[in-house]
Amino acid sequence: MIDLFTKFDPVIALRESLLESGQTDPFNLVMEKVESPTVAICNGKRTILLGTYNYMGMTFDPDVIAAGKQALDEFGSGTTGSRVLNGTYVGHRACEEALKDFYAMDHAMVFSTGYQANLGVISTLAGKEDYIVLDIDSHASIYDGCALGNAQIVPFRHNDIDALEKRLKRIPEGAGKLVVLEGVYSMLGDIAPLKEMVAVAKANGAMVLVDEAHSMGFIGEHGRGVAEAQGIIDDVDFIIGTFSKSVGTVGGFCVSNHPKFEILRLVCRPYVFTASLPPSVVATAATSIRKLMHSADKRAHLWENSKRLHAGLRQLGFTLGTDEPQSAIIAVIMPDLETGAAMWGALLNEGLYVNLARPPATPANMTLLRCSLCALHSEEQVGEILGMFAAAGRATGCID
Ligand SMILES: Cc1ncc(COP(=O)(O)O)c(C=O)c1O
Repeated sequence: MIDLFTKFDPVIALRESLLESGQTDPFNLVMEKVESPTVAICNGKRTILLGTYNYMGMTFDPDVIAAGKQALDEFGSGTTGSRVLNGTYVGHRACEEALKDFYAMDHAMVFSTGYQANLGVISTLAGKEDYIVLDIDSHASIYDGCALGNAQIVPFRHNDIDALEKRLKRIPEGAGKLVVLEGVYSMLGDIAPLKEMVAVAKANGAMVLVDEAHSMGFIGEHGRGVAEAQGIIDDVDFIIGTFSKSVGTVGGFCVSNHPKFEILRLVCRPYVFTASLPPSVVATAATSIRKLMHSADKRAHLWENSKRLHAGLRQLGFTLGTDEPQSAIIAVIMPDLETGAAMWGALLNEGLYVNLARPPATPANMTLLRCSLCALHSEEQVGEILGMFAAAGRATGCID
């Protein structure tokens, strides 16, 4: 017998060498109690959360929680079925209505996760004779959507408008083309030049899908994302999103104005062949989405937090993923995995949780400490966070 686990030996060795130094496992942390969107108890200690996707702090919103509890009481704990059989309740429809209102679009389709939304929509739309042109730094769910389908895959250099144009022009005439972009790229927290890219895609006869997972709720006047902020949302054919970030629960979706969009419900395998979201989840999502429509003050505060943290970290001497804050994500670039893990552990000891990110999730083989801010972080908390970075950075030799 060939042990099929042999291929994982290098990862096992890397993990063991990391933990030998007495380092807490950065990928195995347990939240013992969650007190609020910004504070949890980890290892018995009060810990500020700076590594969640809870951008708008909706997880403890009283209306959201009440809606979830009511749905749990009235509809039970789960649907035990696919959306196309017994798994569509009034709550799923209400959630899709909330999305249509939020984006001012004609159609919305709710999936069980954002990962599945990308998997389903990308693999279903682009068929054998078609081409998918995608940014090389695309999220794993986009790549997996490409792998599940059978279109030709053409990556182009991150955020490079000319490279996108060149790739599009090389595609044989008559072939179907889908350009896949993200609003915010979650590793470095940088945004895409969507305005220019969508114009190039349209000029070359391509349809455009934008994953706005990390911008929904926060970026754009109504929180619709980078496409809204750059004034081109009407030119985007499909927006993919998730409930696992600003919405504060779990689930995914696609919205579109395409007149034939609804047929996807019958032909999209990751929609058809899986159980639908529990009623409590869609009730919390719908309530949260409707509240996010009227959250301009929170959006403004989140921008303030992002600017304050970015400026403070820079002043301390850390190298950051972007020159200016572009989103709620601020990535601190570490020289290597060992230093990154040591810094991550030192921050946790100080009482701060951030994400340690490493390849294959990160671009260019980088190790990152990814900070994601929440609209409910107070100004004082951002000050505390900077103090913790200063102490941990000096203790680990990351800064002077
Ligand atoms: C860009 C992007 N798309 C999709 C997803 C998947 O979202 P979900 O957590 O709902 O599966 C993520 C999650 O991190 C993401 O970053």
